[in-house]
Amino acid sequence: MDDPVIEGLDVYRVGGAVRDAYLGWPVSDTDWVVVGATPEAMRRRGFKPVGRDFPVFLHPETHEEYALARTERKSGHGYTGFTVHARPDVTLEEDLARRDLTINAMAETPDGQLVDPHGGLADLRARTLRHVSPAFVEDPLRVLRTARFLARYDHLGFTIADETRALMRQLARSGELEHLVAERVWTETEKALAEPSPAAYFRALHDCQALAALLPELADDERWLDTALGRLDRLPAMLEASDRRCWRWARLVEHLGDEAREAIAERLRLPRVYRDLARQVALTRWLWQATVIDADSVQRWLDDIDAWRRPERVAPLVGLLQREAPPHGVAVAHGWAAARQVAPQPLLAAGYRGAALGEALTRERRVRLAEALAIG
Ligand code: CTP
Repeated sequence: MDDPVIEGLDVYRVGGAVRDAYLGWPVSDTDWVVVGATPEAMRRRGFKPVGRDFPVFLHPETHEEYALARTERKSGHGYTGFTVHARPDVTLEEDLARRDLTINAMAETPDGQLVDPHGGLADLRARTLRHVSPAFVEDPLRVLRTARFLARYDHLGFTIADETRALMRQLARSGELEHLVAERVWTETEKALAEPSPAAYFRALHDCQALAALLPELADDERWLDTALGRLDRLPAMLEASDRRCWRWARLVEHLGDEAREAIAERLRLPRVYRDLARQVALTRWLWQATVIDADSVQRWLDDIDAWRRPERVAPLVGLLQREAPPHGVAVAHGWAAARQVAPQPLLAAGYRGAALGEALTRERRVRLAEALAIG
């Protein structure tokens, strides 16, 4: 190793980087643990401190994270209620013992030797998500993290160990989940929505009764929950991969009433794009559930989703409509294609202004819609 910045430092690759390498997955971020050093010694070597709560540093050239080995003790409620102890006498084994899952508690020396006191590699091979120690219950966020890892690895055959499920249930029952701040809950949920099996996240949370604490609107009715989870990958064709999370969220909550949907959005402080799309999909659901659709209902829908000012919204929603109720989808696509042709210029030329112009536009669109729907 000829990196002068870490020369002579006792460092180990840890966490996700080791786990993913053993899974044969590409490793994007490598995290390191440093044993036996002080913050001052790290700064002298040129490391830049970044952690406010933990002693974490960035390597001046590679910008990878180097954290001093630490132990943590619960000292209050929720994710932040911890006392951190990061002195040079903390060993690598002590640092690994504070971690959540065995597959996340492996370390590797710079020359590739595995340090695995909790059987992480065996669990990785057995496709098991298992807690490291009973201290798992000290951090309620771990319930969500474990469910999220299941969403990531479910398709590889991973399951959550029974004992870990029992601890997740214990945590859910203890009321500790209520101390998680909205931002943490949403961050985990948003990440889970981007994983290959997002339904596994919500299902795992429901099985341990955490969903009832986090999203009671969804947990309350088992049948609705099953149907909602079955929809997560029924999405419009040709979505950008980056839009998938938002669409999956919208599909999850589309059956809820406006009040329940808004209550979740407020509680979790959802970003605007999630709120807006969830509302638009719920409005579109009305359309595909209708036995017949006519110019009135389509025009109302277009107005409600603000289609005239935001025409880019229409195509993906029509795509969803085509998945859920193909004949309605085809009809609305025709109607929209015709109605959007109505241009203000001829009406302006005919002398319409202000509110009268708005009314004339609406009338024209209505006529075109009715014609297209009659033909379609
Ligand atoms: N960790 C933990 N408990 C938490 C958060 C993190 O034990 N509540 C530990 C885990 O050992 C984890 C490591 O800290 O592997 C780094 O956490 P993070 O970067 O959030 O996760 P990764 O495991 O690297 O996973 P990802 O691929 O999602 O980044």
